[in-house]
Amino acid sequence: MSGMGRATAEAPANIAFIKYWGTRDPEATLPYNPSISMTLSECVSRCTIERREGAVGEDEVLFRPRGGDLAPAPAGFAAGVRHHLAALSKWAGAPGPFRVTTANNFPTGAGIASSASGFAALALAFTGLVGRQVSPRELSVLARRSGSGSAARSALGGYVEWPAGDDEGEGYAVELAAAERWELHDLVAVVDAGRKGVSSRGGHEAAPSSPYFQARLELLPERLEIVREAIAARSLADLGPVVEEEAIDLHLVAMSSRPPIFYWQPATLAVLAAVRELRSDGISVWATIDAGPNVHLICEPPSVEPVAARIGALPEVQELIRDRVGAGPRLVEEHVS
Ligand code: DP6
Repeated sequence: MSGMGRATAEAPANIAFIKYWGTRDPEATLPYNPSISMTLSECVSRCTIERREGAVGEDEVLFRPRGGDLAPAPAGFAAGVRHHLAALSKWAGAPGPFRVTTANNFPTGAGIASSASGFAALALAFTGLVGRQVSPRELSVLARRSGSGSAARSALGGYVEWPAGDDEGEGYAVELAAAERWELHDLVAVVDAGRKGVSSRGGHEAAPSSPYFQARLELLPERLEIVREAIAARSLADLGPVVEEEAIDLHLVAMSSRPPIFYWQPATLAVLAAVRELRSDGISVWATIDAGPNVHLICEPPSVEPVAARIGALPEVQELIRDRVGAGPRLVEEHVS
């Protein structure tokens, strides 16, 4: 896979049940609180890396959004990739400059963890390029060094916990359960596919200024335990209410940060209302929302079609992306071009 001096990796997005919100150590990207997520299978980033032989100067960073053409990456993403490349290059003792091309098959920057998948893919592709085999733990640390903490979780498949970690060396995610253990689905109700107004980074920085930040942290040990046990017992009845409560708390903290950050739109509330209606009709489906307006609907296989029918028919919903738990990143032969 490192033949011809190029390597390509594919890594999925993930959806957090317990959110990472607030960065304790921005230098090392260590969070205030542990987070737990499910790695997805359909929403993926593919990343190809090669060394720009004989070239001097900057790394070249190209990006292909869903349905678009390959072009120079947006400035923010390109800066993140260069920062990540510097860390990866130092780790491997392999100098650049490099050429990186990333393609996403889902909307970017709209709360579907595109940086998590993008940076996990970059970390794995880099190991392929330099011919180094790494453990999932090492890959998680390498992905985290991108500065996107949730990328530490996209380094693994299935159900994943990223502990708060006392020091830099402990900052890696671990598997709680393999994907095959429990077939959970994530239907993403896209109400706005555009880029979000405030980045997660901005949200992490502002979070401790909320009067509810500390209150949420105090609730988390119990929530984390319920989520770990619900995953072990495959109990959506136990998992669902906590996941929904936790998502609302993240946004409560964001909305009460100084200055306040609003990711929700009227359409977000319309989807949340429809989710409550579905539950009152006896369908077990639970909502979670990342740093954007789109709503992730978590359910088991028998509920997928009824949920898709009801939510997909809402005028506020532009698109429904069907995803589910997945196995994690892998090196692939087919390069992005
Ligand atoms: C709300 O800094 O890891 O998704 O938005 O992907 O840059 P990007 O991510 P990051 O923050 C993630 C925040 C979150 C919650 C979560 O995934 O835990």
